[in-house]
Amino acid sequence: MTNHRIALIPGDGIGAEVLPPARQVLDILGRRHDFTLSYTSYDDWSCERFRREGAMMPDDGLAQLRDKDAILLGAVGHPGVPDHISLWGLLIPIRRGFRQYVNLRPIRVFEGIDSPVRGARAGEVDFVVVRENVEGEYSEAGGRLNRGFPDEMAVQEAVFTRVGVTRLLDYAFKLAERREGRLTSATKSNGIVHTMPFWDELVAERAASFPQVSWEQEHIDALAAKFVLEPARFDVVVASNLFGDILSDLAAAVAGSIGVAPAANLNPEREFPSMFEPVHGSAPDIAGQGIANPLGAIWSAAMMLDHLGHPEAAKDITDAIAAVLAKTDVRTRDLGGTASTVEFTDKLLELL
Ligand code: NAD
Ligand code: IPM
Ligand code: MN
Repeated sequence: MTNHRIALIPGDGIGAEVLPPARQVLDILGRRHDFTLSYTSYDDWSCERFRREGAMMPDDGLAQLRDKDAILLGAVGHPGVPDHISLWGLLIPIRRGFRQYVNLRPIRVFEGIDSPVRGARAGEVDFVVVRENVEGEYSEAGGRLNRGFPDEMAVQEAVFTRVGVTRLLDYAFKLAERREGRLTSATKSNGIVHTMPFWDELVAERAASFPQVSWEQEHIDALAAKFVLEPARFDVVVASNLFGDILSDLAAAVAGSIGVAPAANLNPEREFPSMFEPVHGSAPDIAGQGIANPLGAIWSAAMMLDHLGHPEAAKDITDAIAAVLAKTDVRTRDLGGTASTVEFTDKLLELL
């Protein structure tokens, strides 16, 4: 029987509340589909650890994760520790250190969900944001904060490399080929005059190798509007790191709540473990109340199983998500219900 070694990093806030439901689901599927998962938990890699020891994870943290087959993460960030410290001390080093340059963020409007967007119907809105995950606007290059004079200024350079953008585009075009053959590139070449025209040039260049894919580019501002006005038109949306970050929360909101959206931080070459985590953060405003929506984490676990070679088990999960939403009215509060995390998870497990 195949065994997969999984690193569990609950992190902060609701991260620790949404990982146990994901793990319950995983264990059931392992028994059903004949594989096992052995977990190593890194429970204290968190802001609490930072306060105590001055670091989010140990110095050899990445080395400890290196031999795992996948990483399942909850969320990172807690009031009192500046976000740039907590995130750059744990989440971002994993994404970069393990060359997880694709951040895959699918979204669907499920039957039974009341989208805040009029006309966003189940079965019609089903697309994927392919976000660049290791460079772009999230860069340490040129970081400078000049203080102490009236014209204080902060400078941070965006980094777009030919290799970095091209490998992401290739992933996105291949995904579009396997899906409905449509790709939308998010740009802002009318305003961001150095990096975005280069991005556009590389999109056009790679598009030539994928004649079956019909593609378009949209300025990010107009694209944000179209996510709301015509969400059904999208199939694969490819975007830089920051644009993809913003678009994926917007897409999740169109699908009802940012609590449902999953993410796969992929190292497509499989030189390193990939990491799976919900799109949402640690939600300090609701942490500790047991009311977080576990769907984003559970769907992320499905993406992990797909990556580990169990697409049928992954489909069992997405089918159960669809079933609990279509056939019952059990919902967490973000989706208009009253169920706790545990009550909602129990209902989903019944239908799994
Ligand atoms: P957030 O996603 O944590 O919360 C935004 C809003 O959505 C909140 O009102 C929250 O209650 C709600 N929400 C989020 N997930 C939910 C769920 N599963 N169920 C129900 N409601 C949910 O974003 P934020 O407020 O910008 O960030 C809070 C902290 O999380 C910050 O420290 C931030 O840096 C961090 N963060 C971490 C990650 C990550 O680890 N990948 C992602 C985003 C934000
Ligand atoms: C996400 C988060 C992170 C990001 C933050 C917390 C650094 O918003 O995973 O979407 O911007 O990548
Ligand atoms: Mn985000």
